[in-house]
Amino acid sequence: MMRDIFDEQLKALRAASLDRNLREIASAHGPEITMLGRDRRARRLINFSSNDYLALANDRRLREAAISAINEFGVGAGASRLISGTQSPHLHLERALAKWKGTEAALSFSSGYVAALGTIPALVTRDDIVLLDKLCHASLIDAAKLTGAVLRVFPHNNLRKLESHLEWTRHKPPGKRVLIVTESVFSMDGDRAPLRDVIDLKKRYGALLLLDEAHAVGVIGVNGRGLAAEENVSDDVDVQMGTLSKALGASGGYICGSHTLIEWLINRARSFIYSTAPPPAIAAAALAALNFVSSAEGEERRLLLWERVKLMRELLSPLTSHLSPSENPTSAIIPWIVGDEQAALDLAGALSTEGLFVPAIRYPTVAKGSARLRITVTAAHSEDQIRSLCEAIKGNLP
Ligand SMILES: Cc1ncc(COP(=O)(O)O)c(C=O)c1O
Repeated sequence: MMRDIFDEQLKALRAASLDRNLREIASAHGPEITMLGRDRRARRLINFSSNDYLALANDRRLREAAISAINEFGVGAGASRLISGTQSPHLHLERALAKWKGTEAALSFSSGYVAALGTIPALVTRDDIVLLDKLCHASLIDAAKLTGAVLRVFPHNNLRKLESHLEWTRHKPPGKRVLIVTESVFSMDGDRAPLRDVIDLKKRYGALLLLDEAHAVGVIGVNGRGLAAEENVSDDVDVQMGTLSKALGASGGYICGSHTLIEWLINRARSFIYSTAPPPAIAAAALAALNFVSSAEGEERRLLLWERVKLMRELLSPLTSHLSPSENPTSAIIPWIVGDEQAALDLAGALSTEGLFVPAIRYPTVAKGSARLRITVTAAHSEDQIRSLCEAIKGNLP
């Protein structure tokens, strides 16, 4: 019975070119990976799919920190941090996160998704209002839905519409909380939020702001502290969310903010309270990554990343109207918009045949008819690898 239902639905997904499959990688993540085909044959591919922007996921320092923490603390954490006690690496990481972000305190979670899922419902209730950017990540949308609050979505980066939603909240009974949720760098488009303007509005209307810095930390701002730090508005962001899983090369999510906020989350964030703590070795690896991004070598790595991003944009921009070479790059994410779902799969397939791995992103991750290749550049890509990708895209244009 269940088989019948889902077989039919899977068939429909395949017919619409919207089905997804797992691909086996038999190597560490890096600018080149080993992918196993259906026939189990291994192929080396140049990898433009990863959020490992600073090439830390397989860095010796992170590996050594994790191994040494495994030797000292073991592998599993045993239980939730409120049940079996908090192992030191989690606390060391959180102190370092707070210091790095310049906030009073920080709390880590097992992923960014889980951080959102625990935090947003702890901040607002069904009596409140959440205002979300249309392109917010699924973790933020799912978390907002979980609150039971009234949700209002504003078109992507549309300040006028955000303001009109805020204006509307004024007619609600006093005491209702209004939470604005947006991202520093949008995960599938690679553009940035107009953060200063959002903050002006939130102040004017007395709202709270949660900013997800998932794709900004490590790569934007002094010491890679993110967009709020770069724009000098960190103190105006009530809840700073981020992940340790992308530029920081480890795994996990975090919230930085006031002592009160963090104490409240320890008491109310269900995904923190009712889940086993992440492995202490992961916290130790994330701490090593934080030390790296705050160092002079981290700064050099960031500069290298931005050079590589500029090169990619310069080479791609003559091939399309939606990428301008002169524009300062906003992130290491370059969307190559194809439109049709099957055409995006075909292009990704053709690139794969040429030894290049670039994922095709389709609905529901992006809107129907706006399928794309999501190209991510890392500091570890060589100029030759970037040129190969641009040549291959050029050779496969209709
Ligand atoms: C904007 C954004 N927020 C949150 C997440 C979730 O983070 P994590 O992968 O650590 O769960 C992601 C990516 O997956 C993301 O792109």
